[in-house]
Amino acid sequence: MVRIPEATVDDIRQNADIVEVISQYLQLRKSGQNHFAHCPFHEDKTPSFSVNERKQLFHCFSCGRGGNVFNFIREIDGLTYPEAIVKTAELVHYPLDQAMVSQVLNQQTTGDSTTGKLYSINKLAKEFYHHVLMYTEIGKPALDYLLARGLTEETLIEFEIGFSPAQRNALYLYLKSQDEHEFETDIYQKSGLFSENKNPEENEFLDRFTKRIIFPIHNERGHAIGFSGRVFEENQNDSFVQAKYLNTPETSLFNKSKILYNFDQAKASIRREKEAVFFEGYMDVIAAWQAGIKNGIASMGTSLTENQVQMVDRFSDHIVLAFDGDDAGKEAIKRSVDYLSQNTHFTIEIISFPAGLDPDDYIQKHGPEEFRNLLEHGRDTHMSFLMDYHRRNVNISNESEQIQYIEAILKELTQVDSLVEREIYFKQLADEFSLSMDTLESQFETVMQEVQNRQLAEYKEERRRTKYQERLPEVSYQNKANYSLLERAERMLLNRLFYHEEAWIYLARQAADFHFRSEDFQLIYILFEAYREKDFDRTDTEGFLDYLQEDDLKQIVAEVFLIELGELTENEIEDYVEVIRNVSPVQENLADKLDELKEAQRSGNKGQQTKLAIEIINLNKKLKNK
Ligand code: CTP
Ligand code: MN
Repeated sequence: MVRIPEATVDDIRQNADIVEVISQYLQLRKSGQNHFAHCPFHEDKTPSFSVNERKQLFHCFSCGRGGNVFNFIREIDGLTYPEAIVKTAELVHYPLDQAMVSQVLNQQTTGDSTTGKLYSINKLAKEFYHHVLMYTEIGKPALDYLLARGLTEETLIEFEIGFSPAQRNALYLYLKSQDEHEFETDIYQKSGLFSENKNPEENEFLDRFTKRIIFPIHNERGHAIGFSGRVFEENQNDSFVQAKYLNTPETSLFNKSKILYNFDQAKASIRREKEAVFFEGYMDVIAAWQAGIKNGIASMGTSLTENQVQMVDRFSDHIVLAFDGDDAGKEAIKRSVDYLSQNTHFTIEIISFPAGLDPDDYIQKHGPEEFRNLLEHGRDTHMSFLMDYHRRNVNISNESEQIQYIEAILKELTQVDSLVEREIYFKQLADEFSLSMDTLESQFETVMQEVQNRQLAEYKEERRRTKYQERLPEVSYQNKANYSLLERAERMLLNRLFYHEEAWIYLARQAADFHFRSEDFQLIYILFEAYREKDFDRTDTEGFLDYLQEDDLKQIVAEVFLIELGELTENEIEDYVEVIRNVSPVQENLADKLDELKEAQRSGNKGQQTKLAIEIINLNKKLKNK
């Protein structure tokens, strides 16, 4: 194994200022000692992500992720640890020996591990299919077809598109001929590239893909992890109807819900343009790329998943949906819009293609320039899309259909948090249906009331499920009574850790991945652990104060030392851990807002109710993303 020498790693870390490096990814704002941003690793409406320049650490108060500059690069770029070190060196222009770099990086993918071999076999398969398409007689008809569809050779090479021959063991024989690799049987089985030969006489595999145009699917780091094969016209009159697209089955590398087609190539541009364009099909992504739209991605023929949204979230907060103009396309947009607006903080725009044209058809028909033009200027806001959507199949001259339509729009408007934006749509509805703004607003309040009641019911249910809150021992904090539940739990647990070995035993056995949510507390916890390992004497817990160097940490520790908790009770540590793990500031905030809402309902303050209801909806959205 070639490794990057420890001294070099240290030297890179010392030369890579964490604030400078993270600034290349996020917009940091300085506040006090720390720099803050929206956490790129989860849905984060308030900036919970902090970077401490002095300590050269980052920490997210909300999701608990944290670490040094390498941990950050590793997580945000989806790299392995050695790759992250190399990437960091590049970012700060630290000179590294290139021969060593390529050795370190190569052994990652061609290593001896099963995963390494699976990467290798996929890479070889990709090269094989691509070669067949580009340079053989067998591939010629498919190549001609793709060129006739307007793709250039350059694009075919860029996306490494291929063709799988009709011969049922072409790939298998090719791989066997690559002597130096000699994959074991189980690598063939686990790769998803073959089905096993039913004939026991021949101990062989059959290729999964035959007579298909092959789209290699890459993971975020650009390694081929699977394929999607499109039927090619020549086999369409086979005796049975074949699926238009056949994918690699789920393997240890290939999990459809975690993949975005073209994400590896598009992410730089997604960051630059501050938006991602979602298409429905691979051909759309590729045609758009060729037309100059480099931030296009697609899911693998399924609805958007949380995983995929989080991948994009690290690079931008805006999504443009560019699906087909037909009914199925509209339904797909509606599903995505609902999902994104109810569960994420993404802002959304929608491109409406003329019925019957998918983006790729549109480019072929109107050319790249008009396509870019449509993408830039043909955008609907998410509400105007919804208004059109609900408008379909409604006969506006029919009064009851009219009412249904207006109610559907008002219901959608409960998801819009900007007062100004809601006013605009009220006005639009008022004008169109000759209604007064007052009528609409009072109708909106009724709809909102229903939403509120649902929220309250959900919240009560949630409360019922999380009984642990009641089990938390009451502690009087003398003059410090205004700590939140979470803050109290962190202080009390830290106190127990200082004085009770049982607390350590519990964490080691029951909660090995435990971490504090407050950056300072986590740091104290780590430092105290180190202190314990050095020259700890239980009777001298207070000696820890001398061991600490930083005044602000000393102050916290001194305060925590002074908490009087009495005897350790049976489930106490477990309760703290539960609270620290599960109760978020959002939940606490939500509880307050719900109390305020009940109060506003009692006193009949409609305006206040609406305002609170919207805040509650937003807090709930945040909660769902934890
Ligand atoms: N898809 C799939 N399985 C199918 C059909 C479609 O997984 N049997 C997914 C693929 O991801 C495909 C996308 O849905 O890219 C869009 O399908 P479709 O519009 O039918 O295909 P196009 O990509 O437009 O292909 P083409 O233009 O070559 O017909
Ligand atoms: Mn198409």
